[in-house]
Amino acid sequence: MKIAVIGTGYVGLVTAAGLAELGHRVIGADKDVEKIARISSGIIPIYEPGLNELLAAHHRKGRLSFSADLDAVAQEADVIFVCVGTPQHDDGSADMSQIEEVSRLIADNLNRYKLVVEKSTVPVKTSHWIKRTIGLYKKTDTPFDIASNPEFLREGSAVSDFLNPDRIIVGVESDKARDILCGIYGRFKDRLVVTNIDTAELIKHASNSFLALKISYINLISNICEKTDANVEQVAEGMGLDPRIGGRFLKAGIGYGGSCFPKDIKALVKIGEDLGVEMSLLKEADRINFDRVRVVMEKVRKALWILKDKQIAVLGLAFKPETDDIREAPSINVIRELLREGARLRLYDPQAADNMKLLFPPEPGRVDYFTSPYAAAEGANSVLLLTEWEELAGLDLVKLKETLANPIVIDGRNIFSPEALKKLGFEYYSIGRK
Ligand code: UDX
Repeated sequence: MKIAVIGTGYVGLVTAAGLAELGHRVIGADKDVEKIARISSGIIPIYEPGLNELLAAHHRKGRLSFSADLDAVAQEADVIFVCVGTPQHDDGSADMSQIEEVSRLIADNLNRYKLVVEKSTVPVKTSHWIKRTIGLYKKTDTPFDIASNPEFLREGSAVSDFLNPDRIIVGVESDKARDILCGIYGRFKDRLVVTNIDTAELIKHASNSFLALKISYINLISNICEKTDANVEQVAEGMGLDPRIGGRFLKAGIGYGGSCFPKDIKALVKIGEDLGVEMSLLKEADRINFDRVRVVMEKVRKALWILKDKQIAVLGLAFKPETDDIREAPSINVIRELLREGARLRLYDPQAADNMKLLFPPEPGRVDYFTSPYAAAEGANSVLLLTEWEELAGLDLVKLKETLANPIVIDGRNIFSPEALKKLGFEYYSIGRK
């Protein structure tokens, strides 16, 4: 079977590499000719641990190739995974124009039976539209099937998530489609969950929104902790030991970001409302997340009072560790607020600085980027930690204290121990604990 993966973003590249690793012959395709040329020559546009190596290994073995000739790819493939972007409209709904474009491409090139698998995160009922579009524009009677196989990979651990999945959701409407997909994922047959297509599509949005809700919940609890003597880390630990709750995604902080949670929760609200379902539960989770910027800013003001001309070393810019991705990163709104109040920012991130420079270009004395956390901290009035990179958690705190003008740390991710910092003479602020 020849598999095509259309779209070479995070999901597409990881899917292409992962399917090749499972032993399949895969073509990764994208209409962006230059991007394909770069990927073919080994230049991967994203930072994702292990991805480069896997792509290169299978490219070398001849199992994985790349092409920008979408017509040829669509004709050659037996199974087409659709991994194109579904960006967000202003009203929260997903922009499905790239999905439609690929559907029409497949219709134009339907030279024999094909299975079309949607992997991008899409609203429930999208497969219905893909099916209708291919049906409307195809030029022959050639049969085809649609399936939904949502991707649950997390940035930073995407390759290992793909190769060690908790579950593989396969939404199908024919035995043939089920057999093909179960064959492709044969290695994981104990983790396959076969459903109808609407169910598969909804599982993805429902899962991401639930995790976002869980994070907003613990952040809400952290607000209560801050007004009492409770410690949110211990509250989360105590809650998480109940297997019905589970300890993961109960880390209080500056809120969730990234390309999925903020977008998916808004998309599910829109989907529900369009169907006449009251969605205030998820709207509130989204609002609580938005409010995290205010919570962080209050801490900064509490520590520094007037922010105008204060030098702040902002350590960690990515929306989470092990990625260069800053999409919807909470750091963006925090930086915007700090600049609005006249602070002078000294920014550092192990991977995401270049992306942040596109949003906040360097302006000497106001927005400066550094290549080490200590250089960023040099002469600063405080550290503001926004991403829990291991490198930052392992900082030499004695050296940090010597470097800073004032020994103040505002820790938006609770990576340091309050006792340890206080013992070293820092003034320390964190989330939901004293
Ligand atoms: C998420 C889902 O986990 C994944 O299954 C889906 O396919 C895509 O969306 P990702 O966006 O890569 O993955 O990151 P994730 O690790 O889930 O973190 C999302 C955001 O939540 C980050 O900003 C992170 O800092 C934040 N987060 C996560 C918390 O604030 N607290 C937590 O306890 C966990």
